[in-house]
Amino acid sequence: SADRIAVVPGDGIGQEVVPVAVDVLDAVGNFEFVHANAGDAVAAETGDPLPDATYETVADADATIFGAAGDTAADVVLPLREAVGSFANVRPARAYPGVDALQPETDLVFVRENTEGVYAGIEDEITEGVSTLTRVVTDDASRDIAEFGFDYAVENGYDDVTVAHKANVMRETDGRFLDRCREVAREHPDIDESEVDEALMDALAMHLVQRPTDYGVVVCPNLAGDVLSDLAAGLVGGLGLLPSANVGRENGLFEPVHGSAPDIAGDGVANPSATVLSAAMLLEHLGYDEEAGRVRDAVESVLEAGPRTPDLGGDATTDDVGNAILDEL
Ligand code: NAI
Ligand code: MG
Repeated sequence: SADRIAVVPGDGIGQEVVPVAVDVLDAVGNFEFVHANAGDAVAAETGDPLPDATYETVADADATIFGAAGDTAADVVLPLREAVGSFANVRPARAYPGVDALQPETDLVFVRENTEGVYAGIEDEITEGVSTLTRVVTDDASRDIAEFGFDYAVENGYDDVTVAHKANVMRETDGRFLDRCREVAREHPDIDESEVDEALMDALAMHLVQRPTDYGVVVCPNLAGDVLSDLAAGLVGGLGLLPSANVGRENGLFEPVHGSAPDIAGDGVANPSATVLSAAMLLEHLGYDEEAGRVRDAVESVLEAGPRTPDLGGDATTDDVGNAILDEL
């Protein structure tokens, strides 16, 4: 039977770009779409930014395409990532021909641990004027993210895998993370050991700016992945181009990196590329690799030849770009 895809546009430009991604998915496959919503507008109406019905729809679907929420983003996105059992956050940062980029040869994929580290949510004020945070690193989550990262590199043709860490200072937690990554690296004969690089995350930040082409897949603890992937986003230019995947064992949540963009919401000029590229990641996750490749090629052709939305210096609308992508397909 057809894969079931939950569609959650959210707020602002989410309402404008998600329908484009749905049209694209519909053009390349036979899917059952289940519509639900979440975010500021839903909260204003119902008092709850993430109604149970939306959570259930996402949890029960094979995959979800999500736009963005506004002020309620944390109350929506974090539970939705949990609803799909996401342990890996995948954020490609690629430069495209025809788009201005600080580093036009960049082709990086951040594979970020998505459940623990300093985002485990264990923070306290232990006494007046003193707060602490507990950083959680487990063997299981470290192995899971390393396995995912190495498999991703092999399946997507990346030779280089870098493990970001700070085990020289955080000996116990990042030491554990690094040890598990080393084990998993040894179990991946497809990746030559000389291509597995361990990088202190601060120095890595500098090297990514100077020589991004030295890197391919970067496996990161949670906070490092959050920061380094934003840094890489800056190298390729434009939030309107950056997709992401929150991958679980069976399920997944696919969303652009950008937010609801209230400054342009309602104008019909948002760049739909990030969301369409997120839909390509969704297709890949469901095993439709050929279709995913066609969608990426179509987006790439339109980025190169136009039409382009104002964020990329053009004057096209969201629908102009969406139609051009559909024409390419
Ligand atoms: P933003 O990503 O919404 O916008 C930043 C800038 O980039 C704006 O100038 C916007 O117009 C532009 N931009 C973003 N996406 C674009 C696109 N597809 N096409 C053309 N231009 C685009 O981030 P901002 O302004 O910090 O946050 C706005 C709201 O979004 C906030 O309420 C925030 O909480 C929420 N947000 C939600 C996220 C989520 O749901 N995952 C992630 C980030 C922010
Ligand atoms: Mg972030």
